[in-house]
Amino acid sequence: KTKIILDTDPGGDDIFALLWLLSLVKQGFVELIAVTTAEGNVNAKTTFACASQVLNFTGFAQIELGKGVVEPTDIEDAAYIHGADGMGGLSESLPDVKHDYRNARYSDDIIIDKLNAYPGEITLLAVAPLTNLAAAEIKSPGILKKAKEIIVMGGAFAVPGNVTSLAEFNIAFNVDAAQLVFNSRNDTVVLSLDVTNELIFTKEMAEEVYLSNSQNPVAKFIVQLCEFLTYTSLTYRQTEGIKGFLVHDAATVAYLFYPETLLLQRAQVDIETAGKFTKGQTIIDNRHVAKASVNAWVALQVDAVNLLASLVEDLKVLIS
Ligand code: BDR
Ligand code: CA
Repeated sequence: KTKIILDTDPGGDDIFALLWLLSLVKQGFVELIAVTTAEGNVNAKTTFACASQVLNFTGFAQIELGKGVVEPTDIEDAAYIHGADGMGGLSESLPDVKHDYRNARYSDDIIIDKLNAYPGEITLLAVAPLTNLAAAEIKSPGILKKAKEIIVMGGAFAVPGNVTSLAEFNIAFNVDAAQLVFNSRNDTVVLSLDVTNELIFTKEMAEEVYLSNSQNPVAKFIVQLCEFLTYTSLTYRQTEGIKGFLVHDAATVAYLFYPETLLLQRAQVDIETAGKFTKGQTIIDNRHVAKASVNAWVALQVDAVNLLASLVEDLKVLIS
């Protein structure tokens, strides 16, 4: 089984990455060591509550949940997209928050403890701003090297950003944290908007999942969340008549369990931490000059059709 810590800022597409992982837990492929929430899409308290409700609802309330480290950030959160509860009001129809925010451990402490307990064994899936990972590295220098692998959803190389013309949300939210994490090892896997912009989860896909077991309350939740993200949420796009929203964060799960859907290259990724117009940009040097170092694997291409089909099939298993 692959030991995983998911560092996440739900609602939104984070919930789909979490549900995909839970299906793989159910199928015996994954041991979900902890879910560490982060400030990002919404504030730390709300991402914690959202993750707790989803874990409770799906029967996984026993999984340890961390609360996000709160730091001054470079941009605003995205509550204007995701609603005050991170899921467009759907929290009201879910069972209560199960984990106790006040007594929960901070996400960075959980990351440190677990990586020390299982050196070289844990894969960190980072689908939020990198605040928690950076805080862990600052408290315990060298700790991130103890992860088996770090897989980040973030950045934009050859495509525009989604918060500024050049910057992607997870990087732009805390640029110093991002730079620190990218400098912490030389093999971080980066799944940027270049590939995740192709991952349009449609209403038809949600309905296919729903129809496979419409008695299961999670089935209805998936349809409602998809509807909210597609129609209500401001920045999620409607492309050439295909109505849907982008499941950015799900790409990290695909990288691990459906590797045939992604093509990657070695690269040195640097983060612009200062520029007036460029802050938060992720940069690769594609000139024909020798590179002094590399720190990452960057996704170049994605087979979106097969990736999304795999997600749909695994969501069906989750609700079966
Ligand atoms: C990233 O930002 C968040 O809003 C999404 O959940 C994803 O992690 C995409 O830029
Ligand atoms: Ca996210």
